[in-house]
Amino acid sequence: MTDSGADVRLRRERRAFLKYLAASPLLASSSVAAFAAEFGQDDTDPLRDKVVRDYVIKSAKDALNVFDFEAAARESLPPAHWGYLSSGVMDEVTLHRNQAAFRDYGIPPHRLTDVETVDTSVEIFATKMPSPIFLCPVGGQRAFYPEGELAVARAAKSRNATMILSTASNTSIEDINAALEVPAWYQLYVVGGWNNGVATAKRAQEAGSEVIVLTVDILAGRDLEWQTRLARLDDRDCAACHGDNGLMNRAHFPMFQGLAAGEAAGSKWVDWEFVKRLRETVKGKLLIKGIMTAEDAGLCVRYGADGIIVSNHGGRADESGIATIDVLSEIVTAVKGKVPVLIDGGFRRGGDAFKALALGAKAIGIGRPYIWGLSSFGQEGIETVIDLMRNEFELTMRQAGTPAITNIGARSIRTLTRRL
Ligand code: FNR
Repeated sequence: MTDSGADVRLRRERRAFLKYLAASPLLASSSVAAFAAEFGQDDTDPLRDKVVRDYVIKSAKDALNVFDFEAAARESLPPAHWGYLSSGVMDEVTLHRNQAAFRDYGIPPHRLTDVETVDTSVEIFATKMPSPIFLCPVGGQRAFYPEGELAVARAAKSRNATMILSTASNTSIEDINAALEVPAWYQLYVVGGWNNGVATAKRAQEAGSEVIVLTVDILAGRDLEWQTRLARLDDRDCAACHGDNGLMNRAHFPMFQGLAAGEAAGSKWVDWEFVKRLRETVKGKLLIKGIMTAEDAGLCVRYGADGIIVSNHGGRADESGIATIDVLSEIVTAVKGKVPVLIDGGFRRGGDAFKALALGAKAIGIGRPYIWGLSSFGQEGIETVIDLMRNEFELTMRQAGTPAITNIGARSIRTLTRRL
């Protein structure tokens, strides 16, 4: 088995840390010396590094895991759009931590259980899902592939996967729901004041979408440095596509059409009272996406949310350095089973999804992985990403001796001593 891109990255980070340690007076301490003795060997395998670095799949069928699509997407996208997809905020500590944190948890294998048949299905808000893995909202998907969100909807339909459509979608909710047949969940950014926000939520509901997902994690502002740096490498004329208003040109976003221009969403007026008012105003279920603390989770319940998505926008909101998986347990404890807790951020393997379920999540969202599939091979790429993650998840359930989702619990996970 080849190492994944994540393995290569982790090894690189570990080597950099060891170099730092070697130059540090800390090495005088015996515990640090013992640490260095254990990890100090250079475990690079040049052949494996070369395979991961140089081999880019030419067909979706060749993919062995979702990282194969990451490499293919990097090759197929222009620098500015790759920057939009891949970047996190500032030094990208949170972005990397989301993924690396899964290594701090292990899955004890349980033997000699009948796992001939494994049932991976879950039900949330009367939505029956064949697998707990759903597709997160990602804005502006025509930046990645000409059909954008429509290719995602077709893939989601063919795999019966739950899709959340972004307010900043290049395709309208009506067209998506027509392609999906089962309505998408609708992610709400409140742009242009209360009336505009409610208007898009109501429009989604009229199109059949019964779950509204209010995203709250970028209200305080953010700093996507790498997105800006990578855009500088792009010699194409951005205005030729985006127009004079730049990336937020409303003409590209059907959900803003017909709405008055207005103030962008901001912490000044999208607050807890806003959540309460929204809950009272829109029908269906209201999920809050972007919660990272037990306190905020408690407030979500108090102000009437029907569910929570633990999320830091895939490392694109705050530079807290805290992974979503690290705060899942405390959030599950805080909501006391009153509402379902979902999670996203850094999920790249079926085993990652399993760990989140063992820590109390009801469903797991993926963002970048399915967009890597979209960017490189359109609908087929997304379908293969879904298949790969579902298959890995099912295999993990077998190895853990858990034939049904309800069997996954505290005995299915172990917190490991942190290794750098
Ligand atoms: C996002 N995400 C996002 N979230 C949201 O609520 N509305 C949106 O429009 C977007 N747009 C968006 C664009 C891009 C390029 C990315 C990468 C992400 C966040 C997304 O829903 C999800 O929280 C993360 O992507 C999950 O992390 P991973 O799986 O990408 O690590």
